[in-house]
Amino acid sequence: MGEYMVEATVIRNDQDGVATLTVNRPDKMNAANREVLAALNSHLDDIEDDESVDVIIITGAGEKAFVAGADINELAARQALDGLEAYMQRTYSRLAAFAKPTIAAINGYALGGGCELALACDIRVASDNAVFGLPETGLGIMPAAGGTQRLVTLAGRGLALDMIITGRRISAEEAKQAGLVTYLTDQETLIAQAEKVAERIRRKGPTAVNLARKVVAAGAKVDEETGLFIERLAQSVLYATAEKKEGTSAFLDKRHPDFGSVRGQH
Ligand code: COA
Repeated sequence: MGEYMVEATVIRNDQDGVATLTVNRPDKMNAANREVLAALNSHLDDIEDDESVDVIIITGAGEKAFVAGADINELAARQALDGLEAYMQRTYSRLAAFAKPTIAAINGYALGGGCELALACDIRVASDNAVFGLPETGLGIMPAAGGTQRLVTLAGRGLALDMIITGRRISAEEAKQAGLVTYLTDQETLIAQAEKVAERIRRKGPTAVNLARKVVAAGAKVDEETGLFIERLAQSVLYATAEKKEGTSAFLDKRHPDFGSVRGQH
């Protein structure tokens, strides 16, 4: 498999500090096979150290699917130890803890591993034709790329179990009501909406954004008192940054902050 093929299954497009990664197997509903996951990881390797990228948007090619799950052809051949290798789960965990904020722009079916890909992102923007579902139990398996954990955290145990053990698909509207999605739009304006959210993030202090994401993630793993302590520590770090000086000065001077002007300064 040539490098070109690996890259082509997930296309990267950069504009104004935003890298958009498009899963590109529209004739297979963008089903995530090994090649897609390898391409995603390869792009993450590049983006991790790329200072020109502030935010990542992930979407699917075509008008029907975001990602319609793991590739069922590959799934059919899997053995017990493949489950432990958990390539998809590891990739999504990497994404969930990634150094830069992530937005899923869900443009259609987000099923199984596609739903879990969206769940691993920080923010979900969906078009009104988006459909969310975890159909794994109907295939005699279960969601195992974060679905049993992240969906519970985001939408609550009741809806998560409903979706997991009945395989019920939910509409974009229901996903919005359940808090799974925070922006709902039509298909034509989906990417523009995701870019608007990305731009909003880009206008904030980057170190503040980065630390806030980490504190929210850490808070989910510890008791509240410990979480609050971590929050205080992170805030103490931010109080000492040039970004905080710029942000507060800009407000008091009645101007917009220019965090770019203090980038990298202590
Ligand atoms: N893995 C492999 N191939 C997939 C796929 C998947 N997860 N999802 C869709 N495809 C393929 C179909 O096999 C079909 O291929 P073909 O044209 O070679 O026959 C092609 O994508 C188009 O899908 P099709 O089912 O014809 O489209 P549809 O509009 O009738 O239905 C879905 C769309 C998404 C509802 C349906 O494809 C589906 O249920 N996919 C599986 C979802 C799933 O169970 N995912 C979880 C896996 S753990």
